[in-house]
Amino acid sequence: MTNVFRCLSLVFLLSLNVAAVAANDDERSTRAIENRQGLLKVTGHYMGPIVGMARGQIPFDADVIAHHATQIGHLTGMLPDLFRMDTRGSSAPTEAKGIIWDNLEDFAAKAKTSQDRAQALVAATSEGKGPTLKAFGALGNSCKGCHDKYREKK
Ligand code: HEC
Repeated sequence: MTNVFRCLSLVFLLSLNVAAVAANDDERSTRAIENRQGLLKVTGHYMGPIVGMARGQIPFDADVIAHHATQIGHLTGMLPDLFRMDTRGSSAPTEAKGIIWDNLEDFAAKAKTSQDRAQALVAATSEGKGPTLKAFGALGNSCKGCHDKYREKK
């Protein structure tokens, strides 16, 4: 009787452990998804004023663009780290396509392209408005280049 009881409680404890591990995995995925979305929201935050300048809605300011592009270079450099965790199967809402984790090298290369173009934009700010806006267009295209392949369309 005692043995049966011990055995049953062991089974019970083991099943609790499995549930705890599963919950932790899901929590880790949710955190990873929130973190990478936060990174991209901040990236969007730095893009916004440059978009406004490109559209002529706010005055062109090369110093502001240089600062924002510097930050965008740092942020896009973090993308491969923040997407390292394969979150396929997570229930948290995400626009990231599962194929990212079959193509991590290509994903990282696309992040590097954005990083390089952000740095090129910093350099272009010393050449005047025309070259700056051209370099900004190239940066924007690099965002789109990754989104077209790896982000669900809304
Ligand atoms: C290497 C791929 C890649 C690059 C480069 C990239 N993105 Fe994204 N972006 C994604 C993916 C994937 C998502 C969806 C993430 C999710 O929902 O988990 C996303 C989502 C976003 C979001 C929505 C974030 C949210 O959840 O509210 C913004 C804003 C964004 N990207 C802006 C940019 C800008 C601006 C650039 C260029 C400077 C850029 N991205 C470059 C892959 C990329």
